[in-house]
Amino acid sequence: MDTSSAYCDSLDPTNLDNFKNELLLPGKDGLLGILETSADPMELVARRERVALAPGKETEMLVYRAERDGMVWLNPTFLVETGDAFSVSLTNGLDEETTIHWHGLHLHWRMDGHPLRAVRPGTSFRYAYPVANRGGTYWYHTHGHGNTARQVYMGLAGLFIVEDEDERRVNETLGVRLGETDLPLIIQDKGFDGEGNLVYDPDEMARSMGYTGNTILVNMTPTPCLEVGTRLYRFRLLNGSNARLYRLALEKVGDGELLPYWLMATDGSLLDRPRPVREMFLSPGERADLLLDLTGFEVGEELALKNLAFDPMHREHGMGGGMGHGAHASHEEMVHAEEVAAGTPRLGDGEEFYVLRMVVKDRVAYVGSVPQTLSVAPVADTRGAAAVRPVTLSAMTEEGQTRWLINGLSYEPDEYPIVVQRGASEIWEIRNDKRSMPHPMHLHGFRCRVLKRKNSPGQVAGTAVDEKGRMVTDLGWKDTVLVWPGETVRIAIQFSHDFEEEQLYLFHCHILEHEDAGMMLNCRVIGPQG
Ligand code: C2O
Ligand code: CU
Ligand code: CU
Repeated sequence: MDTSSAYCDSLDPTNLDNFKNELLLPGKDGLLGILETSADPMELVARRERVALAPGKETEMLVYRAERDGMVWLNPTFLVETGDAFSVSLTNGLDEETTIHWHGLHLHWRMDGHPLRAVRPGTSFRYAYPVANRGGTYWYHTHGHGNTARQVYMGLAGLFIVEDEDERRVNETLGVRLGETDLPLIIQDKGFDGEGNLVYDPDEMARSMGYTGNTILVNMTPTPCLEVGTRLYRFRLLNGSNARLYRLALEKVGDGELLPYWLMATDGSLLDRPRPVREMFLSPGERADLLLDLTGFEVGEELALKNLAFDPMHREHGMGGGMGHGAHASHEEMVHAEEVAAGTPRLGDGEEFYVLRMVVKDRVAYVGSVPQTLSVAPVADTRGAAAVRPVTLSAMTEEGQTRWLINGLSYEPDEYPIVVQRGASEIWEIRNDKRSMPHPMHLHGFRCRVLKRKNSPGQVAGTAVDEKGRMVTDLGWKDTVLVWPGETVRIAIQFSHDFEEEQLYLFHCHILEHEDAGMMLNCRVIGPQG
């Protein structure tokens, strides 16, 4: 019997019956265990480790390992408080350079894991900074120069949860608790070989379009299942995939009905009020906190978080010139045919599949309800004379190889194509070429607001929630904004900081294969005035 296809079939995410592995929830230690900051100096070691992802499914991967009082954490979920002094030292136990980038946090650039600040094998670096952000769901991951995609894929990423007054009040109102009913859910797609080993082996196509895997994992659990009660749940979703875009919906299993849920927070903290949704795009790097009301369910009923089919708009980019739809499609079909022949069918981007199965287990006496308001989120001040900076996203094909460019440029470590004045308010008008693919654009160090979307493709425009063409996930603070082919998105950024020196951040696509291939620019913040 062919073990590789047997392994693969049991993990096929288009079949809900496969979702039997108990979802890993962040506990007090272990994989994704919650690690609260403390005064003790803490050490994280980046290293290889064998990890059991589910019963009988063990693989070697790369992890951040922490140890304290005889307990061990792998890729800890950091739990900190706004205003805390956060400090952790990274020891590089790998045989290649690495860094830690604190995605979404406002901090001094030297602490931000910029590839220029690489930590060499066998050496250590202490990251130390005050937590300046509002409460919310942030994350951290490696940012090694040209090496981010493989290192993240192999495991080097984790969550960074910030608490504050607002957050505590909201969780109290909802009656949810972190790790029990307030659940961080890291969604990733990965590929395994016949022996169940995690593999990262992008071909030329995957290097230009982004690497996607056949298996869907939540919190490192492949094809996961969660037992739930009849109450409210907060799901803190992070799309921690290298390249896969999700169109998330909640399905009542059996009748296929899509259920409404609420969006309560985006990348950078709580919305003003919960917004009802039925579907939502979530691109790599983005977070979305959902509120699920399961009070009306009966014990034994099942629900599923799933990915709805959508047009990934990859063909728009036309490899090899012309409009090229035909050429590209046939290449993709060829690859697909080869994989089917080899017994490892590939889960296409935009295909329908399941992410998480939920089984209602207990009827709980519970009186929590969806609150009217969540927080008073300060809105970006975009009146007055904010400068508009045009940003273009485009492709260049050379000898059959596609490279993705920002403002016609590729990353050069010692070039500074974006220079902003400290304290300035800017509007970035990001225009994605028609012959392109969706790019989730991410800025380090500062948060932004989405002001407007123009020329959005139908599947996006159809979900717009206001006359500015914005999607529901555009309504809160953001640090990663998806820009579709042909679309123009205006974002507002305020470049204030309290640091003495000039700052050097990055602006890049969060499809990690694109970032590594140079779809990234330095962003320098100059000037003395605060
Ligand atoms: Cu999460 Cu530079 O990115
Ligand atoms: Cu980042
Ligand atoms: Cu991209």
